[in-house]
Amino acid sequence: MENSAAEKVTDQIVDILKQQVKLNPTQIRDALGTPPTAELGDYAFGCFTLAKEWRKSPTAIAQELTKRLRPESYIKKIENAGPYINFTVDREKFTPLVLREVFSRGDSYGNCDVGAGKTVVVDFSSPNIAKPFGVGHLRSTVIGNSICRLYRCLGYTCIGINHLGDWGTQFGKLIAAYKRWGKEGQLKAEPVRQLYSLYVKFHAEAQKEKSLEKEAREWFRRLEAGEREAIRLWRWFREISLKEFQRIYDILDIHFDSYAGESFYNSMLAETIEEVKAAGFAQESQGALIVDLERFGIPPCLLRKSDGSTLYATRDIAAAIYRFNTYRFDKMIYVVGADQRLHFQQVFKVLELLGYPWADALVHVPFGLVRFGNGKMSTRKGNVVFLEEVFQRAVELTEKIIEEKNPELQDRREVATQVGVGAIVFNDLSTKRMKDVDFSWDRMLNFNGQTGPYVQYTYARFSSVLRKYGRQVEDNVNFSLLNSTMETRVVKLLSRFPEVVKRAANEYEPSVVATYLLDLCEASNQFYNHFRVLSEDLETTKARVLLVWCIKTVLGKGLKVLGMKAPERM
Ligand code: ARG
Repeated sequence: MENSAAEKVTDQIVDILKQQVKLNPTQIRDALGTPPTAELGDYAFGCFTLAKEWRKSPTAIAQELTKRLRPESYIKKIENAGPYINFTVDREKFTPLVLREVFSRGDSYGNCDVGAGKTVVVDFSSPNIAKPFGVGHLRSTVIGNSICRLYRCLGYTCIGINHLGDWGTQFGKLIAAYKRWGKEGQLKAEPVRQLYSLYVKFHAEAQKEKSLEKEAREWFRRLEAGEREAIRLWRWFREISLKEFQRIYDILDIHFDSYAGESFYNSMLAETIEEVKAAGFAQESQGALIVDLERFGIPPCLLRKSDGSTLYATRDIAAAIYRFNTYRFDKMIYVVGADQRLHFQQVFKVLELLGYPWADALVHVPFGLVRFGNGKMSTRKGNVVFLEEVFQRAVELTEKIIEEKNPELQDRREVATQVGVGAIVFNDLSTKRMKDVDFSWDRMLNFNGQTGPYVQYTYARFSSVLRKYGRQVEDNVNFSLLNSTMETRVVKLLSRFPEVVKRAANEYEPSVVATYLLDLCEASNQFYNHFRVLSEDLETTKARVLLVWCIKTVLGKGLKVLGMKAPERM
């Protein structure tokens, strides 16, 4: 695949510099930044890394080097400013290069083939059966989905796995609770809500009645032993919960390649435990089986409890082995909250001890909490937020806003769904992954704020300009009509998109794309408010329309990468 316009420019800078400095291309690229203002130039090379070799101050080096460098090809000007060398691109060459690239590649602009032939597995969403789909799982869902999409842009085959929490001691609790208080009819009518209240009730009652916990353990034992009644109830809980989760995935338009959850690995656990034993790492400790990880400064990894039941970590170890044998992944990403950091450290360490060379291709991608102004949400106490209601509310509120702004809009409900759901997704993804997401309706539905609706609205606005134009867009235009500062700013941003996609993927950070889209919207709206795109002057119109087409294409692609819809009208 051909290099992007931005890469061609940085390659050019590397070529110019490498004749004079003893740095390799990667080192030069790493030292390239952006000058504080556009007037100073488009790229800045800091001379700090040369100070040792040259035995001079960075400022002196920058001065001397600048004198020796000659601009060529895409570079028009090379100037010195303090310890930096600033490079200014030649707009006459750069603008057509960028716009023609976007125009010819269309929706595939930003894609590359660095991942061709490679596979990445993304373990994401993974809610727990019989518990409500909480906001924490929503974060994993939208971040994981976007990471899949980003890796696909880089050419990887991406396998999305929903590691459902469909096994574990909580099912003992649930069955015990159902046996005591459950009603079949109620459970059929609103499954997850009822299962959840059984779960909450269990914990409340267990405070008072100690025997309940014992009952629960007994049910879980029966479940692990495969006893009929236990299995029947478990299957039923699983099935009705999955149906509800499916509704949420439909709203978000998210698909998984596999729903192999924790229970899927049950039949492999004995073998996994044997393998750890055979490798000589397993130890009995007070009746339980553990892997001692003290020499790595990590608490022991529990493989089997004293009552013989297996654990979350055991299932994750088995799952990783199974997945490698099945998918031969080059990388496996777990998108799971930061509170499970230790769990993944333990699991990864055990796999490493077992000698699996792919153990260092496992990555835990943690994230912060969602805050509703009143702290963390917990599933045990029962003050949980039901996600479907959250989506419903988002759609209703959005529909009201649209009703005011654009009463004539057809398919209002559908657009409101795309925008309302998009607002929640964008609110999440525009927050840096490790930061807590702050959940406020007013802020995230503000059509003029740093929000999803704002990006979608900008997209719809440019779509409408193109509809009005109504003719075929072409790329043989007079590019010199697009050389104002505002237009140049837009062109530069457009040129950055491929590198933004790469960086977001490498850092597992969709917020890089979200922030970029906000910048692009800001620059594009400024251009749009300042210039008339459609005018009597045909030549200018053709040139500006091409720019608009490119903006719309990149905004649409960016939204898609975040897992959002791009409505043509709003
Ligand atoms: N179900 C788990 C939870 O809600 C998340 C599972 C994450 N994936 C994994 N392979 N452990 O906490």
